[in-house]
Amino acid sequence: MIYLNGQFLPLEEARVPVLDRGFIFGDGVYEVIPVYERRVFRLPQHLARLQASMDAIGLSNPHSVDQWRDLIERVVALNTLADQSIYLQVTRGVAKRDHAFPLEAVPTVLIMSNPLKPPSIALRESGVSAVTLADNRWLRCDIKSIALLGNVLLRQAAVAAGAMECVLLRDGFLTEGAASNIFAVRAGVLLAPPKSNLILPGITYDVVLELARASSLNHEVRPVSEAEVRGADELMLTSSTREVLPITILDGKNVGDGTPGPLTRRLMQLFDRHKLDLRLENGVKAS
Ligand code: PDD
Repeated sequence: MIYLNGQFLPLEEARVPVLDRGFIFGDGVYEVIPVYERRVFRLPQHLARLQASMDAIGLSNPHSVDQWRDLIERVVALNTLADQSIYLQVTRGVAKRDHAFPLEAVPTVLIMSNPLKPPSIALRESGVSAVTLADNRWLRCDIKSIALLGNVLLRQAAVAAGAMECVLLRDGFLTEGAASNIFAVRAGVLLAPPKSNLILPGITYDVVLELARASSLNHEVRPVSEAEVRGADELMLTSSTREVLPITILDGKNVGDGTPGPLTRRLMQLFDRHKLDLRLENGVKAS
């Protein structure tokens, strides 16, 4: 069951007009929000990022935070699984095709649920392989835009090269993955590229840095050079659907000794504990 423009209905029955600007221009924004044990993970933060994306594209938010919470919780309740991945998107609505914003259009709001399947234990133990690619996307990667052709092509290039994700480099520095944030570890220090227009401000990225801070793990938020990525002892990716996952092969070569390193393991463990304790929805406990 999904929510579309005021109605709850089965996915198969949902229809969007051809002239929706999401379909014609990719003119819209989205969020992916994990639900664990029917509890929505970090909803205030996801809604704050949605608001930032809408502000950035000049789209007024059709719903208050309380309305969003209510709609999302109703979609969660209408679906059977305890762990879900909520996908929501807002487009600029239906209008005659013209690039400029329509004078009168009602935003299209979609909320749907997919099964949330975090990475298997086997995958967490082996880690995944990635390839470096030049980040050729636009300069507003901080907007969670539904126009993802750049990300789609990069991810496909990684898959075609036999890898699961790409590690993107722009002007000699690490940005992120096609659908994830990337961290490096060197000499026991967790390195995170700072938030900027060049990366999506990941909710999981924030969780990881909060966990590192709370557990006094050495970390630095600063530009990470290509050389530091290539010589990293550990690499990891983070996202709402993949949580924290080690990258153990980069461009066909082992990262470190080719197994998940100590800092990555510690962060996976801390993340597991944190996600199961959603009573601390907005905070991180020291350990
Ligand atoms: N993508 N960077 C990009 C480009 C992303 O698409 C994502 C997530 C992230 C991680 O953000 P978060 O931790 O808030 O999920 C970083 C989602 C999962 C997707 O498009 O399916």
